[in-house]
Amino acid sequence: MANLHVLDHPLLLHKLTLLRDKHTSVKEFREIVSEMATLMCYEATRNLSVEQVAIETPLAPMMAPRIAGKKMAVVPILRAGLGMVDGIVDLIPSVKVGHLGLYRDPETLEPVEYYCKMPRDIAERDVIVLDPMLATGGSAAAALRMLKGYGCRHLKLMCILAAPEGIACIQKEHPDVEIYTATVDERLNDHGYILPGLGDAGDRIFGTK
Ligand code: PRP
Ligand code: URA
Repeated sequence: MANLHVLDHPLLLHKLTLLRDKHTSVKEFREIVSEMATLMCYEATRNLSVEQVAIETPLAPMMAPRIAGKKMAVVPILRAGLGMVDGIVDLIPSVKVGHLGLYRDPETLEPVEYYCKMPRDIAERDVIVLDPMLATGGSAAAALRMLKGYGCRHLKLMCILAAPEGIACIQKEHPDVEIYTATVDERLNDHGYILPGLGDAGDRIFGTK
């Protein structure tokens, strides 16, 4: 499918199995979400442009590639997206972080915004939206809409687990956005939870249940 990258690397699949297991502790869950974000970041940044710079090795001068000063930002959707930030910062220490607070209304499943703080120059940055769960797609679609409203033109969405319904939603409203996920599950249940899924990602990261 266009713009969908299913990163089914054995390391990611193994870690995802640990996340799905209801016996996995909060500590382990949090660590694994962060590790998976690091691994996925490696793929999501594959097309960063590089420039050649002159350096000297201990043996000889050479021209060597360096990332071409690309401005990047990540935007975690609170709360669960926060669990992915450190994993990205480990690889890209200079990345700027915008925060977007959204929760799903339990009745309508519509996203409700409660917080927003973006880097001032967000429009000039390549942005990766972070949220472990792409369920109906309502939250991610709203985040992408908001970022486009700020003038962002280069947007990617990184989740850990996606439902077909969420992918279809993003591909319909945001066909320009590349989606990165470790797997695509079967479907949503009547409450908008991904099946078989991993439960409520925010609750499992922050231990609120
Ligand atoms: C969860 C999840 C996503 C959203 C996905 O957040 O972290 O943001 O639901 O569902 P959607 O694709 O149907 O919009 P939730 O509203 O539970 O808030 P939380 O992260 O604060 O727990
Ligand atoms: N949000 C979650 O945390 N889990 C789901 O399965 C769906 C939405």
